[in-house]
Amino acid sequence: MPQETLRLAVLISGGGRTLVNLQECIDAGTLNANIEIVVSSRADVRGVERARNLGLATLVLERKALDPQTFQDSLTDAVVGADLVCMAGFLSLWNIPADRRGRVINIHPALLPDFGGRGMYGHHVHEAVLAAGKRESGCTVHFCDNEYDHGPIILQHKVAVQPDDTPDALAARVFEQECIAYPRAIQLFADNRIKLDQRRVTFD
Ligand code: GAR
Repeated sequence: MPQETLRLAVLISGGGRTLVNLQECIDAGTLNANIEIVVSSRADVRGVERARNLGLATLVLERKALDPQTFQDSLTDAVVGADLVCMAGFLSLWNIPADRRGRVINIHPALLPDFGGRGMYGHHVHEAVLAAGKRESGCTVHFCDNEYDHGPIILQHKVAVQPDDTPDALAARVFEQECIAYPRAIQLFADNRIKLDQRRVTFD
């Protein structure tokens, strides 16, 4: 029996490269999923333009223009038809409803639990990794709870930090791994191979 296609909602706040990568994997047949809706917490970002150019249903819920409860409820309603919600550079906090837990994931461009949390995104992350003198960095895909960049880790891909690294150079190498790790984690979820037990993830 062919496996059912996983219905995704993708949440963005910025450039939308992660979204584009997911759509490319779907088009290439390496990810058995369909992006049902893209929700952006900002109106004037490249990601919205990219989502629309891909022909994806796109909703802008401007966090700054809405009161917190309206933002919360509208987002919950918008993703109701999705099997899995994927944060893809989403920078707002969404209070995940109890019946949605274990069905929301995020990707972060560092090896959590280090270098995550509020304000830790984009170049801030890679600058902090270099400032700390770390020998390795990478990316983390994790289930979300109600803290920024927090929740049970599904998988991590590592990259070596080079002696002459700049934040941009490190970011580019980490992003290459993000483009592999995120669709991989989503396909594991689609195949029902991820078991979440309180704070721990195991694989079938
Ligand atoms: C990605 O590198 C993603 O890991 C990161 O934002 C970038 C989004 O880029 N997410 C976080 O930092 C979450 N704390 P994009 O908007 O071009 O897809």
